[in-house]
Amino acid sequence: MASVALILKESSQLLEKVSGQNAKREAKILLEFTLNLKGKILQLDHEISDDIYNYFKTLINKRLEFQPISQIIGERYFWKNKFIVSPNVLDPRPDTETLIEHTLSQGKFYNILDLGTGSGCIILSLLDEYKDAIGVGIDKSEDALNVAKQNANLLSLSQRVSFNLGNWCEGIKEKFDLIISNPPYISENDMKILSKSVLNWEPRIALTPEGDGLGAYRHILDGAKNLLIPNGKLILEIGYDQGKKVTHLLKNHGYKDIKLVKDINNKDRVLSASWIE
Ligand SMILES: C[S@@+](CC[C@H](N)C(=O)[O-])C[C@H]1O[C@@H](n2cnc3c(N)ncnc32)[C@H](O)[C@@H]1O
Repeated sequence: MASVALILKESSQLLEKVSGQNAKREAKILLEFTLNLKGKILQLDHEISDDIYNYFKTLINKRLEFQPISQIIGERYFWKNKFIVSPNVLDPRPDTETLIEHTLSQGKFYNILDLGTGSGCIILSLLDEYKDAIGVGIDKSEDALNVAKQNANLLSLSQRVSFNLGNWCEGIKEKFDLIISNPPYISENDMKILSKSVLNWEPRIALTPEGDGLGAYRHILDGAKNLLIPNGKLILEIGYDQGKKVTHLLKNHGYKDIKLVKDINNKDRVLSASWIE
């Protein structure tokens, strides 16, 4: 037996080398998760049995191997909901909420296509906001689509969304008033400087299109114009240093009304454009 206070102290010290200043917070999240599973609440003077402590240690060991907290506990909050996450999907990022916020500021949409849907966090958050809308999520990863489908069930949105295996816009016949995407955009070079938590635990296909990092945008910009209704919108997440380059690509492809949006850290994060025939 050991007290919650002692376990938190010891595990925070262990986690410091991986989690730095977040060590205490992460130890608390993992212990709360462990106790919750066993139907107990975190109280500092509680004594924890050896079997619960041993289970908790397996979680700490996963974190010491740099596995992200959200993957260990299997969930992550994004926008207004909790999403299931696994090593098969990108962990939904706060940066991507800029895309949701900007989309909502552009008015109502009724038929939405999400390219590279991953956990489904973008399309499902938008469908939750636009109660009259329907949507399609595309991904090249069957495993990611399985997570997206579970999230649709969890949020009771399965009736308004379909998730399909595909390569960007290839083979899609429908037309949409909104196409959104947070594609893989890290260049092959920048992959070398990613933290271990990202590089070792998130799917490479979700992070990089290889090469200069712009390959997915080239495919999407080319395909999306055939799938948008006149005046339809294309809204993309971009890397903080890709604003000029992706704006240039949008202009070259004939998109109009191009807007660059910054995230809460004042970094370029979203580009939106209209397709006017
Ligand atoms: C950056 S993640 C975004 C996931 C999710 N939309 C989000 O914002 O958290 C990019 C997604 O694109 C998918 N993807 C990569 N290449 C693709 C392709 N050629 N066609 C469709 N999806 C692709 C990946 O599997 C991954 O789920």
